[in-house]
Amino acid sequence: MFITFEGLDGSGKTTQLKHLAAALEADGHRVVTLRQPGGTPLGDRIRAVLLDSRSEAEVGTIAPEAEMALMFADRAQSLHQVILPALAQGALVLCDRYTDSSEAYQGAGRGLGSEHILGLHRIVCNNVQPDLTILLLPPLESSLHRARRRNQRHVQQAGTDENRFEREGESFYRRVYEQYRAIAQRDQNRVVVFADEAPIATIARSILEVVRERLAANAANARAPELQKPAGL
Ligand code: TYD
Repeated sequence: MFITFEGLDGSGKTTQLKHLAAALEADGHRVVTLRQPGGTPLGDRIRAVLLDSRSEAEVGTIAPEAEMALMFADRAQSLHQVILPALAQGALVLCDRYTDSSEAYQGAGRGLGSEHILGLHRIVCNNVQPDLTILLLPPLESSLHRARRRNQRHVQQAGTDENRFEREGESFYRRVYEQYRAIAQRDQNRVVVFADEAPIATIARSILEVVRERLAANAANARAPELQKPAGL
């Protein structure tokens, strides 16, 4: 099963992904986790260019189309190097962001449009879709507040920043937020939305419940053809 986590910067998805990974491992599953951009040696380099707000001093303004293509280059590499091999071996793959992020940030935030993103996804990612997407979408204002605080801490502690996106204004993030809502409306079977602000442990329990249900349903589906086979065949 391929599970992705989505949401705005500061929505708490990375924390929730870690909680879920630990709980599923405790249930006896083999779990592989990764993030996008990043998660492979090539992806980590792409991440460094795309996220550090000082990159543009070196490479010039990054065109929205170049940003979109680099996000997909990263994604193709992680599909081939990590995600597909892990799924083939029966692992549960938990990925922090995937193509919904491109649709929300590049498609809506940068204004490139969903069609371009979905078209690239078909070509570059062979249209590989997650089985389940956990979308953490608390009110916009609280996500922005948390993301800003975190980035200030990061600059102070590590001397690097990851805020090329986080310096975007509120209208950019409102477009991202609205696109996430539209994706959830469109793909209701795949996307489960958590929109309430609640303690981390409470949301973690709800997410685990959803995932356990899906895993049980998948297992039942996998057994069903066996049960339907006439005896002796
Ligand atoms: P991430 O490391 O998940 O940041 P956070 O933990 O703050 O959510 O994501 C890094 C940034 O990259 C985030 O601002 C969203 C952006 N992004 C895109 O714009 N498009 C994409 O396709 C992906 C995967 C990420």
